[in-house]
Amino acid sequence: MSANESNRFLAACRRVKVDRPPVWVMRQAGRYLPEYREIRAKAGDFLTMCYTPEIAAEVTLQPIRRFGLDAAIIFSDILTPLVPMGIDLEFTPTPQIHNPVRSPEDLQRLTIPEPWQGTEFLSEALERVRANLDPKTALIGFCGAPWTLATYLVEGCSSKSFTKVKQLALSHPEAFDQLVDRLADAMAAYLREQVAHGAQAVQIFDSWAGALSAVDARRWALRPARRLLEALDDLDVPRIYFAHGGSHLLHDLPDMPCEVIALDWRADLARASRVLDGKAVQGNLDPGTLMGPNEEIERRTRAMLEIAPRTGYIANLGHGITPDVPVEAMETFVRTVQEFKYE
Ligand code: CP3
Repeated sequence: MSANESNRFLAACRRVKVDRPPVWVMRQAGRYLPEYREIRAKAGDFLTMCYTPEIAAEVTLQPIRRFGLDAAIIFSDILTPLVPMGIDLEFTPTPQIHNPVRSPEDLQRLTIPEPWQGTEFLSEALERVRANLDPKTALIGFCGAPWTLATYLVEGCSSKSFTKVKQLALSHPEAFDQLVDRLADAMAAYLREQVAHGAQAVQIFDSWAGALSAVDARRWALRPARRLLEALDDLDVPRIYFAHGGSHLLHDLPDMPCEVIALDWRADLARASRVLDGKAVQGNLDPGTLMGPNEEIERRTRAMLEIAPRTGYIANLGHGITPDVPVEAMETFVRTVQEFKYE
């Protein structure tokens, strides 16, 4: 039996028929789980958890043990690979970059380690997880998309208005092109390293794609994301592209060089899937649904599964699960998918 046949998640990424939709959840390893909070309290600091392979591996496996999900996503953060590029990063608990990029001169400081190094902790965590994972469960590697990483590099933290990054992009458009290209190349090398150490699929998080107009997104989000995805062409792993807030880019997405498009929770799943015919789709229950009563979670999850394509579909939320979600709500969501059977 090939890996695709024994692994529902990988099969669905390839649009191979499966018995029911595979299910995993963005940010499934996190603070809504008491066992996560316990380890987090002992470790003290989020980055220490990322940098300690035993801890990162254990936390990755926690939601798999509890819910029997079809895929594990390696525990890390989109910002950790910026540290070997010369970035001074701290979580307080939200991310802070103490030496942000504000000018074309600052840009020259950003180095790409050749070959990719400085994230050996992640390689070791991936190997540990893979060694402890049933072959039926896939292991997903990930990175931030060039535009999303650029917003953190320039703003220095999470932003609502994106004024500094837009100021740099508009004042020095060629230098900004170079910045996102350099990030694309760095993240391609980083994902190749993840695949070499056991990642069987990769997801690119473009969390702030919604901050750009369609025209600017084509230049500063989709173009470099395409460059990153294309650099993985020769690897035999499914590529998932997630443009959060990217509904205005839907008609550009069929051309992205990836196997799966992850839809955010605002998208109309049935209509978007028709536009994306030829690609697998992932998503897209509103994470806020998990704050409702269990019967409502069940009802809305089933309604989502009914309108989703029958092949090439992966059930997930349309953004990360939030820390205040009751464990029982997550259980209800996952169980509802697991009990759904294709005819
Ligand atoms: O999905 C998973 O379970 C894997 C782990 C994972 C984390 N971050 C762990 C984390 C993944 C895939 C990410 C991606 C990430 N990180 C994104 C893209 C996804 C998205 O939500 O759009 C972004 C934008 C970040 C940057 C980041 N990391 C922020 C803004 C914050 C602070 C806000 C918050 O949620 O606390 C983090 C911290 C972070 N990353 C935590 C976790 C579990 C919380 C750390 C803690 O205090 O325990």
